[in-house]
Amino acid sequence: MRRNLVAGNWKMNGSGETLAGLAELSRTNQSPTCDIAICPPFPLLPAGATALSGGHIALGAQDCHAAFSGAHTGDVSAQMLAEAGCDYVIVGHSERRAAYGETDANVAAKATAATGAGLQPIICLGETIDQRQSGLALDVVSEQLKGSVPETEDASRLVVAYEPVWAIGTGEVATVTQIAEVHDVLRANLLDRFGARAEQIRLLYGGSVKANNAKDIFAVANVDGALVGGASLQPSDFQPIIDAAT
Ligand code: PGA
Repeated sequence: MRRNLVAGNWKMNGSGETLAGLAELSRTNQSPTCDIAICPPFPLLPAGATALSGGHIALGAQDCHAAFSGAHTGDVSAQMLAEAGCDYVIVGHSERRAAYGETDANVAAKATAATGAGLQPIICLGETIDQRQSGLALDVVSEQLKGSVPETEDASRLVVAYEPVWAIGTGEVATVTQIAEVHDVLRANLLDRFGARAEQIRLLYGGSVKANNAKDIFAVANVDGALVGGASLQPSDFQPIIDAAT
């Protein structure tokens, strides 16, 4: 009942040249059986919207502010992203939690702003290597889920991405056993909180997802797709991951 989502997080990468790849992806994926999104940096959103228009790949951003408008120099509101053609926005990525001190409460407020603007927030969470080695991974992600996922009438708009910090950009992917354990706990927590509506919330895995491990990861129960960093920049790397999810 949940449709897989494969979302690319370009981080602070990409250029006019990489955007040409979007047009190529759009052409290749005329009738995808999973949802696909690309989240480039803010300045590339208008050109990204043009490159993807008329196709089946959605556009997303990598962050938003919780407020509708106001004196927030350097920030961008969810409403502005919707107007720029976005359907998704990543919130609470571990790189932002670490670099800008974003708390679970900040992340929940951003996610609420996103749903209010008609966007689907991709709410990120995940434990550090120290937390995993101390046996705290399940407690940490449960706590982050509780604090970062907002109350909402329409749970089907929420996407949660489990991204163990130690697996991001390192080439070290979590094992399918580790992924299954965390995703089962996240689903159980969501069911406790949202009841049957929790079945509509997609749970993505992120952290060194590549062509050679995507199929095994997508076969795990309660994995509904992936948030892909490095391997989303080139169509030749990203397309096999899309294919593995379909
Ligand atoms: P990675 O990044 O695929 O390069 O590990 C994932 C992410 O940070 O979303």
